[in-house]
Amino acid sequence: MPRLEPRKRAIGLKIRSMEVDDLAPVFHLGEKLFTANTVPNLYRTWDEFEVVGLYQSDAEFCFVAEIEDLLAGFILGTVISKTKSAWKYGHLIWMGVAPSFARQGIADRLAKHFLETMLEEGVRMLIVDTEADNLPALQFFRKMGFTNPQEHIYMTMNLSGRQQAPPEKKGNGQVKK
Ligand SMILES: CC(C)(COP(=O)(O)OP(=O)(O)OC[C@H]1O[C@@H](n2cnc3c(N)ncnc32)[C@H](O)[C@@H]1OP(=O)(O)O)[C@@H](O)C(=O)NCCC(=O)NCCS
Repeated sequence: MPRLEPRKRAIGLKIRSMEVDDLAPVFHLGEKLFTANTVPNLYRTWDEFEVVGLYQSDAEFCFVAEIEDLLAGFILGTVISKTKSAWKYGHLIWMGVAPSFARQGIADRLAKHFLETMLEEGVRMLIVDTEADNLPALQFFRKMGFTNPQEHIYMTMNLSGRQQAPPEKKGNGQVKK
C-alpha cells in the first residue's frame, strides 16, 4: 500500500491584526489571487479602496498570517447588525493565501481566528460567498463547517448606448438650461 506523505504544516506561523503597513502587501497578494475568474462579479471588486475601506471601518475583523515577516495570507470581514433582528451576522468578505504557502493549514488558522473573534463579538451566523466553480474555496468552507449553499443569479444590463451627454456649460461656468 502506498504511504501517504504527511501534510506540510506552516512553521513559525503567526496570526495577527492587520496593520497600516500590511495594506500594500495585502492588496498586491489579493491582486494575484482575485482574478476575473475567481471574482467575476463587479459588485465587490478587489482594489485599493476595498482594502483601505475595510481597514478603516472594520480593522478589528481584519487579520494577516505571517511567516518570518512574510505575508502568507489574510482574512477580511465585517459584522452586520440588522435593526429588526436581534442576530448579529459576521461576513467573511475576503480570504487569501499566497500560492507558495498553499495547503499548509494557513487559511484554516486564519478562519479559526476569525471565528473566535466573531464569537467574542456575539455573532450568531457567519456568511461567506464565493463563485460556484471556486472548488478549493468551496471545499475549504465546507470543511470549516459552512452548509446550506444558496444559489444566487447575477444579471447585467448594458447601459452604454443609453448614456446622456454631460450638460453644456455657459461662458460664466453655469449650466445651460
Ligand atoms: C481557498 C484558500 C484560501 C485555501 O487556503 P489554504 O491555506 O491553502 O487552505 P488550507 O491549507 O488551510 O486547507 C484547509 C482545507 O481546505 C481544503 N482545500 C484547500 N485548498 C484546496 C484545494 N486547492 N483543493 C481542494 N481543497 C482544498 C481542503 O479540505 C484542506 O484540508 P486538507 O489539506 O486537509 O485536505 C486558497 O486556495 C486561496 O487563497 N484561494 C484564492 C482566493 C479565494 O478563492 N478565496 C476564497 C474566497 S474570498
